[in-house]
Amino acid sequence: MVKPDGVQRGLVGRLIARFEDKGFKLVAMKYTWASECLLRNHYAELADKAFFANLIEYVGSGPVVPMVWEGPGVVKMGRRLIGATNPSESAPGTIRGDFGLQSGRNLIHGSDSIVSAEREIDLWFDADEIVGWKSSLENWFYED
Ligand code: RTP
Ligand code: MG
Repeated sequence: MVKPDGVQRGLVGRLIARFEDKGFKLVAMKYTWASECLLRNHYAELADKAFFANLIEYVGSGPVVPMVWEGPGVVKMGRRLIGATNPSESAPGTIRGDFGLQSGRNLIHGSDSIVSAEREIDLWFDADEIVGWKSSLENWFYED
């Protein structure tokens, strides 16, 4: 999900392109300004952290672009494409490493496990908003 700083900075297209370039398939996307309730639920496991209030304010400060991407190892590789939580420690070449400076402005969220991804997809999308399709380039991205 592109966070409000990514949207405000006009980076939505470039961040989506990182996932498209890698070969992942976009199956759902929306443009929305999330409620505080949704964000508290989304980040529920961090509720006891000192930065929680700042985090909810940050991600609720403007529109976001939640997406669902599919492909082999997409959760693990998605996290690698995004980079470490603190952009000052993210490797160059990662999204946060290339575009960010601080944890509270780190541009994009990525699910950290398949279980989290399933929970988050349920939170942000209705079942009929997930669009299954077969890319005509699939054979050129995947050998099997
Ligand atoms: P995300 O969930 O947004 O993809 O980020 P993440 O897995 O890399 O990091 P997580 O531990 O889940 O933290 C969620 C978001 O909280 C903010 N944060 N601030 N000030 C801090 O020490 C701190 N730590 C985390 C970041 O915006 C982080 O992405
Ligand atoms: Mg996280």
